[in-house]
Formats: sequence, C-alpha cells, structure tokens
Amino acid sequence: MGIERINLNGSLALSRLVFGVWRLADWKMSKDDTQALIEKNIELGVTSFDHADIYGDYTCEELFGRALTQSSALRDKMEIITKCGIKLISKNRPDHKIKYYDTSRGHIISSAEHSLKNLGTDRIDLLLIHRPDPMTDPDEVAEAFRQLKADGKVLHFGVSNFSPIQYDTLNAYLDDPLITNQVEISALCLDQFKNGTIEHAQLHDICPMAWSPLGGGAVFTGEDEKAIRVRKVLEQWSEEKGKSMDQLLIAWLLMHPSKIIPILGTGKIDRVQKAMGALEIDLTRQEWFELWQASEGQEVP
Ligand SMILES: NC(=O)c1ccc[n+]([C@@H]2O[C@H](COP(=O)([O-])OP(=O)(O)OC[C@H]3O[C@@H](n4cnc5c(N)ncnc54)[C@H](OP(=O)(O)O)[C@@H]3O)[C@@H](O)[C@H]2O)c1
Repeated sequence: MGIERINLNGSLALSRLVFGVWRLADWKMSKDDTQALIEKNIELGVTSFDHADIYGDYTCEELFGRALTQSSALRDKMEIITKCGIKLISKNRPDHKIKYYDTSRGHIISSAEHSLKNLGTDRIDLLLIHRPDPMTDPDEVAEAFRQLKADGKVLHFGVSNFSPIQYDTLNAYLDDPLITNQVEISALCLDQFKNGTIEHAQLHDICPMAWSPLGGGAVFTGEDEKAIRVRKVLEQWSEEKGKSMDQLLIAWLLMHPSKIIPILGTGKIDRVQKAMGALEIDLTRQEWFELWQASEGQEVP
C-alpha cells in the first residue's frame, strides 16, 4: 500500500502524512510493539518519522532506535527527522539548571551525534533547529550544518517554529537552503495563516510541516469556546459526509495550496490508517472557510 509522497527540495521525499514520535514514551510499548508500529506505518506508506532529541525527556529516540535496529531492513524504508537546540531541565541532563536554547556549533553537532547513536542509524535525513534561539550566531549554525553534511551524518536541514525573518536570516548563511519550517497549524491554531509564515513558505517553495494537526487532541476534548465551535462544525460534517472528525481536520490541512504536511500524533495504528482516508476527501472552499469561521468565532472581515 502506498500514499502520495511529497518532495521537499528535489532530493528528500516524505510521505504525505508523517508519523510524530513525541508521545512514544507515554505509550509504554514493548520493543516488539514499537517495531510492529513502525512496520505497520511503513506498510501503510507512512514512512517519515518525526523525532526530537528531547522527546520523552530525552528517551524517545532510544526507544525507537532499539525497535528499529531489531530489523536491519527497516532503516532504508524510512525517513528520519529529528531536532536539536532545546535544553530541558531533566534528570537525564543534570547539568541543565534551567530550560534554555543552544544553537552553538558544538551543541548542534553533539546533539545530532547523540541522536544518531540513540536511533541506531548512521544518518539523519532531516535535522531541524527546534525553536528560534535569541542567541543564534548564524555562522556557527552554518559551520555545524556544513560539518554534519560533509561527514554524511545529516542529509538535509530545516527549522521549526521560525518566523519568516528568522528563517531568511539563517538561510542566508547556509550552503544549502533550509527545506522546511515545522510549525503549529490546525483548525484550532490559525496563527501561521495570519503572520506571514504560510506565504513565506510559498515564496520559498517549501512545504510547511504542521505539528499538532488535531490541536493535540483538544479538538475532541477541549472545553474552551473555540474547541466547542470547531467540534460542532466537525460533528455536523461527520454526520453529513460519513467521515470522522480527525479525517476532516487532516483533509482541511491537506487542501491548502501551500502543501502542508500534517504530522500525526496518535499512537494507534488504526487512527493512522483512518487519517489516510483524509487524502480522499474533497472539501469545498466554502467549507474550508466554515471551519476557519468556527475557529475565529466570527466571519472573515
Ligand atoms: N516542532 C515542534 O515544536 C512540535 C511541537 C509539538 C509536536 N510536534 C510534532 O508533532 C507531532 C504531532 O503532535 P500532536 O501529538 O500534538 O498531534 P495531534 O494529532 O494534534 O494530537 C495527538 C493527540 O490527539 C489524540 N487523538 C488523535 N486522534 C484522536 C481521536 N480520533 N479521538 C481522540 N483523540 C485523538 C491522540 O491520542 P491517541 O494516541 O490516543 O490517538 C494524541 O493524544 C508530535 O508527535 C511531534 O512529532 C512538534
């Protein structure tokens, strides 16, 4: 089985839906169950996996890596995305007294090397700077990227949660252009449509990646007014169209012309399979705005 793939820059193709590994430690899976989850995703055509060094308090990459290395054939069937640059207060990093950002050359390189070791792989397909760092020296980031690429340890680079000017500034220092900006986008979070991030991605011909495409689950359970309004529209569509709320939310993202890549956060393979049904759903432009209006709580000006 396969789904459409999406080319980020001519040389890195991701699956149209990406599997997010942020919550892996919470799922309390055995090594074999994790391996089965990875394999089932790949069978479905969801071959791209989104990590960060810090996920699961610095444990998720290793949990994934232990499962991955049980089958030597798996690595070549997937794309691994991971991130660096945030330092958490953690029992696993006792020298961090506070939470802070570090995009120094030394930290980027050592973080990527840790990720390689934890994931049990010799290469990261895409490394992202996790958050904009007010102390960034773009020359140092460029040097780190150059060395990681020259050593074959990281094949492509991008950023996450960057504003257009933060993106352009770093990009100007790099040998190879950044290939994505991973940001929060969902019917519950319209910020990127309003702050220039989506237009900036279109201008640079890069596909934005959308984290928390279901609002982190808040669309199902949120009790704030926005979540309730959005849920009401989705429940009505669900009844009319015979599609589930998660499928409709993903379809809403997929229909945007900027080619948004949703990162699924579920740990349940049947929900991944269901989410793939979103690729078959056509919403009208009017419907797209109906969900926008529900999120905003008012009609467009
Ligand atoms: N770059 C960044 O700064 C950043 C920040 C946050 C996240 N991310 C990435 O984005 C990925 C996705 O984020 P996310 O986990 O917040 O995504 P999400 O898909 O918006 O939310 C996932 C949550 O929704 C629940 N859920 C999914 N389908 C559901 C359904 N039909 N009914 C009820 N609950 C449902 C899931 O529970 P079940 O597991 O029970 O299905 C899970 O708890 C992460 O794994 C990570 O890779 C990146």
